[in-house]
Amino acid sequence: MHPGITYLHDSMVEAEIDRELRDLLTTCFLKAEDDVFRRRRYYKEPYPNRWVIRGDQQELVAHVGVHEKVIQAPAGLHRFGGIAEVCVHPDARGQGYVKAMLAVIHPWLAERGFEFAVLFGDPEVYGSSGYTMVKNLVMDTDPTSPDSPREPVTAMVRLLSESTWPDGEVYLPGLNF
Ligand SMILES: CC(C)(COP(=O)(O)OP(=O)(O)OC[C@H]1O[C@@H](n2cnc3c(N)ncnc32)[C@H](O)[C@@H]1OP(=O)(O)O)[C@@H](O)C(=O)NCCC(=O)NCCS
Repeated sequence: MHPGITYLHDSMVEAEIDRELRDLLTTCFLKAEDDVFRRRRYYKEPYPNRWVIRGDQQELVAHVGVHEKVIQAPAGLHRFGGIAEVCVHPDARGQGYVKAMLAVIHPWLAERGFEFAVLFGDPEVYGSSGYTMVKNLVMDTDPTSPDSPREPVTAMVRLLSESTWPDGEVYLPGLNF
């Protein structure tokens, strides 16, 4: 692993690290709904994996979270890593930290049998890390209702193995990230 990039399982996050994570997320995510980061270190639901980079003063400067999720395609289920809460402190941007962290995360996921990395983000940020748009992903419009209609969502996918992204409707149960 790149020496400056550290893996943190969520069970390793003690109170001080939790405060540092919330500080970085609050500094980077500025929309009204991002206010949740003042009180918790995840947007909608917790995730087990994250990677961080620390600066010269040991301060947190970059973060990527990774959910472990499953999609349902016509021919069966596929495990994927859901990339979330990608952020770099404003003073540390433009140095390739996102690309460097994803370059560590992709093989980590592949070694554990995840076929894809999936995210909802800006193509300009992730294109150079191998992500392309898919148009056949659907999600529940209301994940709390068992009868919810489904709607197409635009996502970006990075292949991690020999598997190609499935054809036909691909359903992602639960919440987006
Ligand atoms: C988005 C963000 C994580 C990028 O951090 P960064 O340190 O500049 O990222 P990198 O240096 O690794 O750049 C990765 C790629 O994103 C591009 N990029 C970075 N910021 C960009 C922006 N605001 N608009 C378009 N492209 C951008 C870079 O040019 C680079 O592309 P390239 O590899 O094709 O040259 C950072 O600006 C941030 O924390 N923003 C606020 C949080 C946020 O919105 N996160 C979600 C983003 S979808």
